[in-house]
Amino acid sequence: MQNNNNLKIAVFPVAGMGTRFLPATKASPKEMLPIVDKPLIQYAVEEAVNSGIENLVFITGRNKTSIENHFNKAYEIESELKIKNRKKELEMIQNIIPSHVKCIYIRQNEALGLGHAVLCAKPAVGNNPFAVILADDMILSAKSCLSQMVNRFSDLNSSIIAVEKVEKKFLHKYGVIDGIKHNERDWLLSNIVEKPDNNLAPSDMGVVGRYILKPSIFNILENTKEGAGGEIQLTDAIATQIANEKVYAYEFEGKRFDCGNKLGFLKATIEYGLNHKELSKDLRDYIKNLNIK
Ligand code: G1P
Repeated sequence: MQNNNNLKIAVFPVAGMGTRFLPATKASPKEMLPIVDKPLIQYAVEEAVNSGIENLVFITGRNKTSIENHFNKAYEIESELKIKNRKKELEMIQNIIPSHVKCIYIRQNEALGLGHAVLCAKPAVGNNPFAVILADDMILSAKSCLSQMVNRFSDLNSSIIAVEKVEKKFLHKYGVIDGIKHNERDWLLSNIVEKPDNNLAPSDMGVVGRYILKPSIFNILENTKEGAGGEIQLTDAIATQIANEKVYAYEFEGKRFDCGNKLGFLKATIEYGLNHKELSKDLRDYIKNLNIK
Protein backbone atom coordinates (compact mmCIF):
# COMPACT_ATOMS: atom_id res chain seq x y z
CA MET A 1 0.00 0.00 0.00
CA GLN A 2 1.14 3.57 -0.71
CA ASN A 3 0.15 6.33 1.65
CA ASN A 4 -0.47 9.69 0.06
CA ASN A 5 1.08 11.81 2.74
CA ASN A 6 4.74 12.17 3.56
CA LEU A 7 4.83 9.54 6.30
CA LYS A 8 7.49 7.16 5.03
CA ILE A 9 9.62 6.33 8.10
CA ALA A 10 8.93 4.04 11.05
CA VAL A 11 11.13 3.69 14.11
CA PHE A 12 11.23 0.40 16.04
CA PRO A 13 12.81 0.69 19.50
CA VAL A 14 14.13 -2.85 20.04
CA ALA A 15 17.01 -2.32 22.46
CA GLY A 16 15.11 -3.33 25.63
CA MET A 17 16.44 -6.24 27.67
CA GLY A 18 13.14 -8.11 27.98
CA THR A 19 13.53 -8.71 31.71
CA ARG A 20 9.81 -9.43 32.10
CA PHE A 21 10.29 -12.46 29.87
CA LEU A 22 13.30 -14.15 31.43
CA PRO A 23 14.56 -16.83 31.01
CA ALA A 24 13.23 -16.87 27.41
CA THR A 25 15.03 -13.60 26.68
CA LYS A 26 18.38 -14.47 28.28
CA ALA A 27 20.10 -14.98 24.92
CA SER A 28 17.38 -14.09 22.38
CA PRO A 29 15.70 -10.73 21.85
CA LYS A 30 12.12 -10.55 23.10
CA GLU A 31 11.16 -9.10 19.71
CA MET A 32 12.10 -12.45 18.15
CA LEU A 33 9.65 -14.44 20.28
CA PRO A 34 7.10 -15.92 17.88
CA ILE A 35 3.35 -15.55 17.95
CA VAL A 36 2.25 -18.68 16.05
CA ASP A 37 4.77 -18.60 13.18
CA LYS A 38 6.26 -15.11 13.02
CA PRO A 39 8.40 -13.14 15.47
CA LEU A 40 6.82 -10.11 17.13
CA ILE A 41 9.04 -7.74 15.19
CA GLN A 42 7.86 -9.16 11.86
CA TYR A 43 4.24 -8.33 12.69
CA ALA A 44 5.33 -4.79 13.55
CA VAL A 45 7.31 -4.44 10.32
CA GLU A 46 4.43 -5.81 8.23
CA GLU A 47 2.06 -3.32 9.83
CA ALA A 48 4.42 -0.49 8.88
CA VAL A 49 4.98 -1.68 5.32
CA ASN A 50 1.25 -2.21 4.78
CA SER A 51 0.69 1.36 5.95
CA GLY A 52 2.95 2.75 3.22
CA ILE A 53 6.17 3.08 5.25
CA GLU A 54 9.33 2.73 3.13
CA ASN A 55 12.16 3.23 5.63
CA LEU A 56 12.47 1.09 8.74
CA VAL A 57 14.75 2.40 11.49
CA PHE A 58 15.59 -0.15 14.17
CA ILE A 59 17.09 1.13 17.41
CA THR A 60 19.00 -1.90 18.58
CA GLY A 61 21.20 -2.89 21.48
CA ARG A 62 23.27 -5.79 22.77
CA ASN A 63 22.30 -9.32 21.67
CA LYS A 64 19.97 -8.08 18.94
CA THR A 65 21.78 -9.28 15.81
CA SER A 66 19.15 -11.96 15.16
CA ILE A 67 16.71 -9.13 14.33
CA GLU A 68 19.07 -7.87 11.60
CA ASN A 69 19.59 -11.41 10.36
CA HIS A 70 15.85 -12.01 10.20
CA PHE A 71 15.40 -9.15 7.73
CA ASN A 72 18.53 -9.99 5.71
CA LYS A 73 18.96 -12.44 2.87
CA ALA A 74 19.55 -15.98 4.22
CA TYR A 75 21.72 -17.56 1.50
CA GLU A 76 22.10 -21.02 3.02
CA ILE A 77 18.40 -21.60 3.72
CA GLU A 78 17.45 -20.14 0.35
CA SER A 79 19.76 -22.44 -1.59
CA GLU A 80 18.57 -25.48 0.42
CA LEU A 81 14.95 -24.62 -0.29
CA LYS A 82 15.74 -24.08 -4.00
CA ILE A 83 17.41 -27.49 -4.23
CA LYS A 84 14.39 -29.11 -2.56
CA ASN A 85 11.98 -27.09 -4.71
CA ARG A 86 10.16 -25.77 -1.61
CA LYS A 87 8.67 -22.76 -3.39
CA LYS A 88 6.19 -21.74 -0.70
CA GLU A 89 8.80 -21.59 2.07
CA LEU A 90 11.27 -19.86 -0.24
CA GLU A 91 8.78 -17.13 -1.04
CA MET A 92 7.93 -16.85 2.65
CA ILE A 93 11.48 -16.00 3.66
CA GLN A 94 12.41 -13.94 0.58
CA ASN A 95 9.54 -11.50 0.73
CA ILE A 96 9.39 -10.44 4.35
CA ILE A 97 10.47 -6.97 3.33
CA PRO A 98 9.65 -5.78 -0.21
CA SER A 99 12.61 -4.51 -2.25
CA HIS A 100 11.50 -0.84 -2.18
CA VAL A 101 11.68 -0.85 1.64
CA LYS A 102 15.02 -0.06 3.29
CA CYS A 103 16.30 -0.96 6.77
CA ILE A 104 18.56 1.18 8.91
CA TYR A 105 20.03 -0.10 12.18
CA ILE A 106 21.19 2.31 14.87
CA ARG A 107 22.72 1.16 18.10
CA GLN A 108 21.45 2.60 21.38
CA ASN A 109 24.54 2.24 23.52
CA GLU A 110 22.86 2.69 26.86
CA ALA A 111 19.33 1.72 27.93
CA LEU A 112 18.26 5.24 28.90
CA GLY A 113 14.56 4.90 28.06
CA LEU A 114 12.07 5.04 25.20
CA GLY A 115 12.57 8.77 24.70
CA HIS A 116 16.30 8.28 24.35
CA ALA A 117 15.74 5.38 21.91
CA VAL A 118 13.56 7.59 19.72
CA LEU A 119 16.15 10.38 19.88
CA CYS A 120 18.75 7.91 18.54
CA ALA A 121 16.68 7.81 15.31
CA LYS A 122 17.15 11.53 14.65
CA PRO A 123 20.05 11.18 12.14
CA ALA A 124 17.94 8.77 10.05
CA VAL A 125 14.63 10.61 10.34
CA GLY A 126 15.75 14.24 9.95
CA ASN A 127 12.99 16.79 9.55
CA ASN A 128 10.25 14.31 8.61
CA PRO A 129 7.23 13.04 10.45
CA PHE A 130 7.64 9.42 11.50
CA ALA A 131 5.85 6.52 13.13
CA VAL A 132 7.03 4.70 16.26
CA ILE A 133 5.93 1.11 16.71
CA LEU A 134 6.47 -0.87 19.90
CA ALA A 135 6.51 -4.50 18.78
CA ASP A 136 5.31 -5.66 22.23
CA ASP A 137 1.90 -4.20 21.52
CA MET A 138 0.10 -6.35 18.97
CA ILE A 139 -3.21 -5.17 17.61
CA LEU A 140 -5.62 -7.51 15.89
CA SER A 141 -7.92 -5.55 13.58
CA ALA A 142 -9.41 -5.56 10.10
CA LYS A 143 -7.45 -2.41 9.19
CA SER A 144 -4.13 -2.14 10.99
CA CYS A 145 -3.82 0.39 13.79
CA LEU A 146 -1.05 2.30 12.00
CA SER A 147 -3.09 2.47 8.75
CA GLN A 148 -5.99 3.93 10.72
CA MET A 149 -3.63 6.50 12.23
CA VAL A 150 -2.06 7.33 8.86
CA ASN A 151 -5.56 8.26 7.66
CA ARG A 152 -6.04 10.56 10.63
CA PHE A 153 -2.59 12.06 10.04
CA SER A 154 -3.60 13.01 6.48
CA ASP A 155 -6.38 15.14 7.96
CA LEU A 156 -4.74 16.45 11.11
CA ASN A 157 -1.05 16.79 10.13
CA SER A 158 -0.11 16.69 13.83
CA SER A 159 1.39 14.15 16.21
CA ILE A 160 -1.09 11.36 16.99
CA ILE A 161 -0.84 8.81 19.77
CA ALA A 162 -2.80 5.54 19.91
CA VAL A 163 -4.85 5.09 23.08
CA GLU A 164 -7.32 2.68 24.57
CA LYS A 165 -9.42 2.51 27.72
CA VAL A 166 -7.50 0.86 30.58
CA GLU A 167 -8.83 -0.51 33.86
CA LYS A 168 -8.05 1.92 36.68
CA LYS A 169 -5.90 -0.61 38.57
CA PHE A 170 -3.51 -0.83 35.60
CA LEU A 171 -3.15 2.85 34.71
CA HIS A 172 0.20 3.08 36.54
CA LYS A 173 1.75 0.91 33.80
CA TYR A 174 0.88 3.36 31.00
CA GLY A 175 1.27 6.82 29.60
CA VAL A 176 -2.13 8.41 30.35
CA ILE A 177 -3.68 11.27 28.39
CA ASP A 178 -5.71 14.32 29.36
CA GLY A 179 -7.75 16.25 26.83
CA ILE A 180 -11.05 16.70 25.06
CA LYS A 181 -12.69 13.99 23.03
CA HIS A 182 -14.20 15.73 20.05
CA ASN A 183 -15.63 12.86 18.04
CA GLU A 184 -15.97 9.08 18.23
CA ARG A 185 -12.20 8.41 18.20
CA ASP A 186 -10.15 11.65 18.29
CA TRP A 187 -8.91 13.48 21.36
CA LEU A 188 -7.20 16.87 21.37
CA LEU A 189 -4.64 16.61 24.14
CA SER A 190 -3.97 19.05 26.94
CA ASN A 191 -1.48 16.83 28.79
CA ILE A 192 0.00 13.35 29.05
CA VAL A 193 1.74 11.71 32.03
CA GLU A 194 3.92 8.61 32.21
CA LYS A 195 2.96 5.92 34.70
CA PRO A 196 0.86 8.01 37.12
CA ASP A 197 -0.54 6.62 40.37
CA ASN A 198 -3.84 4.96 39.56
CA ASN A 199 -5.68 7.52 41.67
CA LEU A 200 -3.94 10.54 40.13
CA ALA A 201 -4.28 9.54 36.46
CA PRO A 202 -5.89 12.34 34.42
CA SER A 203 -8.18 9.90 32.53
CA ASP A 204 -8.63 6.20 31.94
CA MET A 205 -7.12 6.36 28.45
CA GLY A 206 -3.72 4.65 28.24
CA VAL A 207 -1.10 5.02 25.52
CA VAL A 208 -0.55 1.98 23.31
CA GLY A 209 2.67 1.49 21.32
CA ARG A 210 1.78 3.31 18.09
CA TYR A 211 2.73 6.93 17.59
CA ILE A 212 2.95 9.29 14.64
CA LEU A 213 5.25 12.13 15.62
CA LYS A 214 6.17 15.47 14.11
CA PRO A 215 9.96 15.95 14.02
CA SER A 216 9.80 18.84 16.51
CA ILE A 217 9.90 16.02 19.09
CA PHE A 218 13.68 15.62 18.55
CA ASN A 219 14.67 19.07 19.87
CA ILE A 220 12.36 18.51 22.80
CA LEU A 221 13.86 15.07 23.52
CA GLU A 222 17.35 16.58 23.52
CA ASN A 223 16.25 18.69 26.47
CA THR A 224 14.07 16.13 28.27
CA LYS A 225 15.32 15.10 31.69
CA GLU A 226 14.94 11.70 33.30
CA GLY A 227 11.37 10.98 34.34
CA ALA A 228 9.46 7.92 35.59
CA GLY A 229 11.78 5.01 36.43
CA GLY A 230 14.83 7.28 36.00
CA GLU A 231 14.47 7.01 32.20
CA ILE A 232 14.14 9.61 29.46
CA GLN A 233 10.47 9.20 28.65
CA LEU A 234 8.88 9.79 25.26
CA THR A 235 5.69 10.69 27.12
CA ASP A 236 7.41 13.63 28.86
CA ALA A 237 8.63 14.97 25.51
CA ILE A 238 5.12 14.63 24.09
CA ALA A 239 3.81 16.62 27.08
CA THR A 240 6.13 19.47 26.05
CA GLN A 241 5.08 19.11 22.41
CA ILE A 242 1.43 19.46 23.54
CA ALA A 243 2.32 22.81 25.12
CA ASN A 244 3.75 24.04 21.78
CA GLU A 245 1.50 22.57 19.09
CA LYS A 246 -1.63 20.48 18.56
CA VAL A 247 -1.24 16.82 19.49
CA TYR A 248 -4.02 14.27 19.16
CA ALA A 249 -4.81 10.84 20.55
CA TYR A 250 -6.68 8.27 18.54
CA GLU A 251 -8.87 5.46 19.92
CA PHE A 252 -8.06 2.76 17.41
CA GLU A 253 -10.37 0.00 16.30
CA GLY A 254 -8.99 -3.41 17.22
CA LYS A 255 -7.98 -5.69 20.04
CA ARG A 256 -4.64 -5.04 21.65
CA PHE A 257 -2.39 -7.63 23.30
CA ASP A 258 0.43 -6.64 25.62
CA CYS A 259 2.98 -9.22 24.53
CA GLY A 260 5.53 -7.76 26.92
CA ASN A 261 3.95 -9.86 29.64
CA LYS A 262 3.39 -13.60 29.76
CA LEU A 263 -0.40 -13.60 29.97
CA GLY A 264 -0.76 -11.09 27.13
CA PHE A 265 1.63 -13.15 25.05
CA LEU A 266 -0.42 -16.32 25.64
CA LYS A 267 -3.68 -14.53 24.79
CA ALA A 268 -2.15 -13.27 21.53
CA THR A 269 -0.89 -16.76 20.70
CA ILE A 270 -4.38 -18.18 21.13
CA GLU A 271 -6.20 -15.46 19.21
CA TYR A 272 -3.70 -15.26 16.35
CA GLY A 273 -3.85 -19.06 16.22
CA LEU A 274 -7.63 -18.92 16.01
CA ASN A 275 -7.26 -16.44 13.13
CA HIS A 276 -4.58 -18.44 11.31
CA LYS A 277 -5.96 -20.01 8.16
CA GLU A 278 -4.13 -23.33 8.52
CA LEU A 279 -4.58 -23.73 12.28
CA SER A 280 -7.90 -22.12 13.08
CA LYS A 281 -10.16 -25.15 12.86
CA ASP A 282 -7.91 -27.62 14.67
CA LEU A 283 -7.08 -25.14 17.43
CA ARG A 284 -10.76 -24.31 17.91
CA ASP A 285 -11.56 -28.05 18.20
CA TYR A 286 -8.70 -28.55 20.61
CA ILE A 287 -9.84 -25.70 22.89
CA LYS A 288 -13.45 -26.93 22.82
CA ASN A 289 -12.31 -30.40 23.86
CA LEU A 290 -10.32 -29.14 26.80
CA ASN A 291 -13.57 -29.00 28.79
CA ILE A 292 -12.24 -26.24 31.01
CA LYS A 293 -14.34 -25.77 34.14
C1 G1P B 1 5.76 2.35 27.08
C2 G1P B 1 5.40 3.84 27.17
C3 G1P B 1 4.02 4.00 27.81
C4 G1P B 1 3.00 3.21 27.01
C5 G1P B 1 3.43 1.75 26.88
C6 G1P B 1 2.51 1.00 25.93
O1 G1P B 1 5.88 1.86 28.39
O2 G1P B 1 6.39 4.50 27.93
O3 G1P B 1 3.67 5.36 27.82
O4 G1P B 1 1.73 3.31 27.65
O5 G1P B 1 4.77 1.64 26.36
O6 G1P B 1 2.87 -0.34 25.80
P1 G1P B 1 6.57 0.41 28.76
O7 G1P B 1 5.49 -0.61 28.56
O8 G1P B 1 7.72 0.24 27.82
O9 G1P B 1 6.99 0.54 30.18
